[in-house]
Amino acid sequence: MKVTFVQKTNANSGAIIVGVEAGRKLTPAAQELDARTDGALGRAMKNDRFSGKKNQMLHVIAPANMTVSRIILLGLGDAPLSELDCQDMGGAVFAALNGAGEKEVAWHIDAGGDNLPQIAADIAYGARLRSYRFDKYRTQEKPEQKPTLTKMAIVVDGATAARRDFKSLDSVAQGVFMTRELVSEPPNILYPASFAAEVKKLEKLGVKVEILNEKKMEKLGMGALLGVGQGSIRESQMVIMTWNGGRNKRPLAFVGKGVTFDTGGISLKPGPGMEEMKWDMGGAGVVVGLMRALAERKAKSNVIGVIGLVENMPDGNAQRPGDIVTSMSGQTIEIHNTDAEGRLVLADALWYTQDRFKPSFMVDLATLTGAMMVSLGTEYAGFFSNDDGLSEKLAAAGTASGEKVWRMPLAQAYDDLLKTDGADMKNIGGRFAGAITAAQFLQRFVNKTPWIHLDIAGVTWSAKDKPTVPKGGTGFGVRLLNRFVADNFEG
Ligand code: BES
Ligand code: MN
Ligand code: ZN
Repeated sequence: MKVTFVQKTNANSGAIIVGVEAGRKLTPAAQELDARTDGALGRAMKNDRFSGKKNQMLHVIAPANMTVSRIILLGLGDAPLSELDCQDMGGAVFAALNGAGEKEVAWHIDAGGDNLPQIAADIAYGARLRSYRFDKYRTQEKPEQKPTLTKMAIVVDGATAARRDFKSLDSVAQGVFMTRELVSEPPNILYPASFAAEVKKLEKLGVKVEILNEKKMEKLGMGALLGVGQGSIRESQMVIMTWNGGRNKRPLAFVGKGVTFDTGGISLKPGPGMEEMKWDMGGAGVVVGLMRALAERKAKSNVIGVIGLVENMPDGNAQRPGDIVTSMSGQTIEIHNTDAEGRLVLADALWYTQDRFKPSFMVDLATLTGAMMVSLGTEYAGFFSNDDGLSEKLAAAGTASGEKVWRMPLAQAYDDLLKTDGADMKNIGGRFAGAITAAQFLQRFVNKTPWIHLDIAGVTWSAKDKPTVPKGGTGFGVRLLNRFVADNFEG
C-alpha cells in the first residue's frame, strides 16, 4: 500500500474519510462535504445510531453531486486521541476499507488533538501495521478474498511534518514485518542455516552479520546449545548482528531463542497442535526485526543482536534425558526433559554475549514456557529481571508502544528447585512456577550483567485479528524494544 501525505486534495474516486466528534459534531472537512452533497451527511446521521463515538463508522454510499464511491464518517469521540488510539483507528479503518473492496482512500485529518501531523502519521502507521499478510503459499485465492486497498492519501495541514514522522514509524513497521515473515515461514523452509542466510541480508542496511557454525561453537564449548541440535540433520547456527549507530562504549545486547522447530526431542510433544512449534524461533525473529528497525531508521546507539538457531528433533543421535552437558560457562547441566530446550540454547547465547561484548545490559526474548501462557494469557508478555531501573524502563516502553509487559518475580527459593545430585543443575524445576524456574535457569548464565528475560510464548502468535495486528505472527517485541531503545539509549 502506497501512503502519501498531502495538504489538500480533490479526490474524485475511491473513498473519502472525514471525522465527526462526539455529539455528531462535523469537523470542518466534513462540513464542507455535507454542503457539497446537499446535506447528505447530516441526513445519514439522523437515520442511524451513529453518534461520533470513537471508532464508530457510517458509510454514505454514492453521495450526491460527487463521483467518489463513498464518504465514511469516522467517530473521533470527545477526548484527544492518544498515539495508540490513532494507530488502532488506522488499523481498524484499513480493515473496513478492504472489507468494502475500496482501492483508494483520501483521509482528512483536521481534528482529534493539537498535533495533527502526529495524528496523521500514527493513523498511517496503524494502517501499515494492519496491512501485513502472509500469503506467499496461497495459490488459489479468489480476487474477492484478496485485499484491495493500494493507495492511502492522508490530507493534513502540515503534510511535510507528517511525512517525516511517518518515515521513522514506517521503519519500525519494516522490522515488525520481517519478524512476522520469519515467524510465519514453515519449518521445512526456515531452518537454522536458511534463517541465518535471511539475516545476512541485513548487511545491505549496514548491519554487520557474523555466523558461527557447529565447528566454531564446539571450539567455544557451547555444549548446551549443541546438545539441543544434535538430533537434527540441520546444522545449528549462531548469528551475531552489530549495529554501530551511536557513541555508547558498551553496546546494548538483545538475545533470542531460535528453535526453528520444537518437537520436544526424545521427550516428544503430543501430536495435536505441534505445527505451532514452527514459531518457537519467535524470540530470534524479534531480535532480527528489531535490528532491522534500528538500521532502517539509523538509530543513534550501538547495539548487538545474538540469536541461537537450532532444530529440536528426536533421532538416533538426539540428546537423551539423563545426559549431562557442559555449557560454555563451564557449568554442567543434567537434562531431565529434552523439551526444556530453549533455556539450553539461551544459556550459551547469553554467556557468549556477555563474555565477548561486555554489554551495558542484555535483554533476551524467548517463546520459553507454556507456563507463561497459563499465567498471563495472550495479552501481556511476562518479564524477569535482576535490575529495577531497567525493569521500569521496559514497563514504560510497553505502555507507550501498546505491547504490554508485566514483571514476574525471581527468588532464591525458586532457584533451589534446579538442584540435582549429578551436575550443577537440571534443566527443569518442579511441577509449579514453570516460567519462573526457567528464568532462574537463565539467570545462572548472565554473570551479574543487568538483564531482562522476556517470555513471549503467549504473545508471539495471535488466533484473531487485532486493530494493528492481523491474526498469525504478531511481531510482538519489535515495537516494544524499539521504543525502549529510542526513549532511553539514543542521542
Ligand atoms: N517452546 C516451548 C514452550 C511453548 C509452548 C511456547 C507452547 C509456546 C507455546 C518450550 O520449549 C517447552 O516445550 N517448554 C516446556 C518446558 C517444560 C518441559 C519444563 C513447557 O512449557 O511445557
Ligand atoms: Mn520445548
Ligand atoms: Zn521450545
